[in-house]
Amino acid sequence: MTNRQLFLSHVAQTSPEPVALEIVKAKGIKMWDVTGKEYIDLIAGFSVANIGHGNEAVIKAVQQQAEQYMHLIVYGEFIETPQVAYAAMLTRHLPATLNSVYFTNSGAEATEGAMKLAKRVTGRSKIIACNKAYHGSTQGALSVMGDEYWRNAFRPLLPDVYHLDFGSDELIKSIDDDTACVLVETVQAESGVNKPPKGWLAALREACNEH
Ligand SMILES: Cc1ncc(COP(=O)(O)O)c(C=O)c1O
Repeated sequence: MTNRQLFLSHVAQTSPEPVALEIVKAKGIKMWDVTGKEYIDLIAGFSVANIGHGNEAVIKAVQQQAEQYMHLIVYGEFIETPQVAYAAMLTRHLPATLNSVYFTNSGAEATEGAMKLAKRVTGRSKIIACNKAYHGSTQGALSVMGDEYWRNAFRPLLPDVYHLDFGSDELIKSIDDDTACVLVETVQAESGVNKPPKGWLAALREACNEH
């Protein structure tokens, strides 16, 4: 069997007609398929590979760390130098109140973590999200997604979730003393590139502080 046949038989596909390029090497912005044909990678792992494929500094760091240790424990129990250095570096670039990092593997997990943290800290369950929002594919993240196209097949989802328009006064007015959190993208991406009106994110922050 060819790799293409094995792929079609044994790898779960998420679209009816996968691109199915068989890539054997990638460097910088370029990638090559099994026949040697060259492509420019305009997807770049949906921006994850945003410093280019095969970056020498990244390869060296991965190799060096693999020689030290690969995986010990993830739950903030051991002091692991690369994790500590990364958390300290991130917090240097963030406002002083954002001073502790919980590492996740994906955007969906970050959304899950944020919702759980908000519920636990506030003791409330009401969550406000935006129409046309994209937050990830797990059950909780799907619940705050803003489009029936994504959500419909997976009901019932999380209760006490309310969707309002991104950038609207109605959304800000809906924040009350039952609200655990509001989930927003700073710029909506799934539904195009939607920026909020000037001052809207600051007004949202203020309403959240108030409640
Ligand atoms: C704003 C936003 N949040 C969450 C996610 C989900 O991230 P992941 O696919 O890593 O779970 C995405 C993915 O595109 C996203 O754009």
